[in-house]
Amino acid sequence: MSIYQERILDHYKYPRNQGEIEKPDKKTAVHNPLCGDSIKMYAVFEKNKIKKISFIASGCVISKASASLLSEYAVKKSKEQLRKLDKAFIINMLGIELGPNRVKCALLALEALQKLLI
Ligand code: FES
Repeated sequence: MSIYQERILDHYKYPRNQGEIEKPDKKTAVHNPLCGDSIKMYAVFEKNKIKKISFIASGCVISKASASLLSEYAVKKSKEQLRKLDKAFIINMLGIELGPNRVKCALLALEALQKLLI
């Protein structure tokens, strides 16, 4: 198993920032129509930056690991910085080859994050 695969499994088994934030500044929910999996995401902002972020994912290894990794990355980043994140960033963050359906799993967390930034 590659180091990237191990990291993904670790984030799946022990997701960082999992759970609901009480009284978030913003919350959102997205779902993947192909499989019905979903991610809820919560954030607290300080000035223009994410102070706290959390998520609840009901989904596959890739979607959950992607949400966990992205939530770690997002803390203390500004809305402007986070709005620039794209598919290439997520694929690079995961570090593994993904087929088209798996890319949709990986992008679900990014879709949730982008909705938090609106
Ligand atoms: Fe549903 Fe991956 S199979 S998000």
